[in-house]
Amino acid sequence: MARNGRYGLNEAIQVGFLGCGVVGGAAARIIAEHSPDLEERCGARIEIKLIAVRSLAKDREVSLPDQSFTTDPFEVVSDPDIHIVVEAMGGIEPALDLILTAIKNGKHVVTANKELMSTMGRDLVEAAESAGVDVLFEAAVGGGIPIIRPIKESLAGDRIRRVMGIVNGTTNYILTRMSERGEGFAEALGEAEALGYTELDPTADIEGFDAAQKTAILSSIAFNVLVVAGDVQREGIARVTAQDISAAHELGYEIKLLSVSEVADGAIAARVHPAMIPRTHPLANVRDVFNAVFVEGEESGELMFFGRGAGGGPTGSAIVGDVAEVARHIVSGGTSIGWTHRVRARITPLDNVRVRYYVVLSVLDEPGVLSAVAGVFAHYGVSIASVRQEGSGDGATLALITHAGTEGQHSKTFQELHALDVVKAVDSRIRVVGTEEL
Ligand SMILES: NC(=O)c1ccc[n+]([C@@H]2O[C@H](COP(=O)([O-])OP(=O)(O)OC[C@H]3O[C@@H](n4cnc5c(N)ncnc54)[C@H](OP(=O)(O)O)[C@@H]3O)[C@@H](O)[C@H]2O)c1
Repeated sequence: MARNGRYGLNEAIQVGFLGCGVVGGAAARIIAEHSPDLEERCGARIEIKLIAVRSLAKDREVSLPDQSFTTDPFEVVSDPDIHIVVEAMGGIEPALDLILTAIKNGKHVVTANKELMSTMGRDLVEAAESAGVDVLFEAAVGGGIPIIRPIKESLAGDRIRRVMGIVNGTTNYILTRMSERGEGFAEALGEAEALGYTELDPTADIEGFDAAQKTAILSSIAFNVLVVAGDVQREGIARVTAQDISAAHELGYEIKLLSVSEVADGAIAARVHPAMIPRTHPLANVRDVFNAVFVEGEESGELMFFGRGAGGGPTGSAIVGDVAEVARHIVSGGTSIGWTHRVRARITPLDNVRVRYYVVLSVLDEPGVLSAVAGVFAHYGVSIASVRQEGSGDGATLALITHAGTEGQHSKTFQELHALDVVKAVDSRIRVVGTEEL
C-alpha cells in the first residue's frame, strides 16, 4: 500500500464484515462514526467495504449504501480490496471455513467468537502466523473489558498464578436478583428473559457453557498452554436456591457463578461453578450484568478488570480496538502476538482439584447425628471448619463449611453421607472460594 508522511498510508484500509447483528452492527457504526479519530490513532483511514448478512431486508445500525451488503459471506473473504475481516456472525460453521479462507487470502481477522476461539483458536492463530496476518479476539471474553491484550502484553513480564472471573452477565444478573430481592431462580430467569438478557435458549448461559468457553481462552492466555472448552469443569446455577443465598448472606458471603483457573505443579485446574465468595472480595460486589476478571500475578499482585461483558456498544468497541491494532500493523509493519503457546495443557484431574465446600444436610433430630456425620468427613480426610445445627424435628439441618480438601475426598464424603441413616438428604453443596490458600 502507498505510504503518506506521518499518516503512513494514503489509501484507506478496507474492512469487510461477516455479520451485522448486535455486535457487528455496533462495530460497523463505531467505525463509521469515529472515522477521523481512528485515522489519527492508526495512521490510515478505515473504511467499510462490504458486509455479509442473512437478510437484506432488515434495518441496520450502520447506514451504508445498499451495495455495501451481500448475502454471500464468501464474497467478503475473497474480495481483493479487503484487508481486515471482522467475523461477528457466531457459531462454528460457516465461520471457521470463512475465517480460514480469509487468512488464506492474506486478510487479517478480528473475531468476537468465543465458541470458535475456545475450540479452534490454536489452529486459527497458526494458520494466521503461516500467512503473516493477525487474528485478534479481544471481544470474545468480557465484551468491552480489555483483558486479552493486557494479559498477553502488559502482564507478559509477570507469572500469573490464578485468574478468577464473573464472565457471564446473564447468570450474574439472575444471581443478583436472587441475592438482592430474595427471588427464586425461575423468577429471576424470567426477569432476565423479559429484559432480553438471555439467548432464545438460555442453556449456554445457565449451564455455564458460555463461561467455560471464556475460561478456556483466559486460561490459555494466562498460563501459556492450550486449554480448550472441554478441559473446563463446568456446573451451572440452576440448582442454586433462595435458601442457599440467604444462608450465604448470614455467613458473610455472596454466591456467584465463578470462572476459576489456576496453575499448580505445571498442571491447570480450570472450572466454572457457583461459589460462595466473601462479601469483602471485590468479585462479590460485581452486580447485575457486569463482568469482572480478577488476576493474581506473582509480581503485580491482585488486579481487577471490570465492565460490561456484553452488548453492542461495549463488544463493538473491543472489536474496533482490534481493528485499529491491525491497522497500525498494516501502517507500520509487524503482526500481533496470537496464541502465546502451542502445547496442550496438562489438566489437573477433577478428583485432585482442591476445594472447600459449604454443605447443608437434612438430618434426623436425635442424639449422635453430629458425631456420625463428622465421622464420615474424618474418614475421607476432610476437616470441618465450622458447623451449625438449625431447626428441630422434621426441619433439623446441619450446615457445615469444610477446610480445603480434594474434590475426590469431598465427593466420596457426600456419597457416604447420602447413605447414612441419620442423613435424610444432602440439600446443598456449594464450593467456597477466596477465603484461604488451597
Ligand atoms: N451479543 C453480545 O453481547 C456478544 C458479546 C460478546 C461476543 N459476542 C459474540 O459475537 C458474535 C455475534 O453475536 P451477535 O449477538 O452479534 O449475534 P447476532 O445479533 O445474531 O448477529 C449475527 C449476524 O450474523 C449474520 N449471519 C449469521 N449467519 C450468517 C450467514 N450464514 N451468512 C451471512 N450472515 C450471517 C446475521 O445476519 P442477519 O442480521 O441478516 O440475521 C447477523 O447480522 C457471536 O460469536 C457471539 O458469541 C456477542
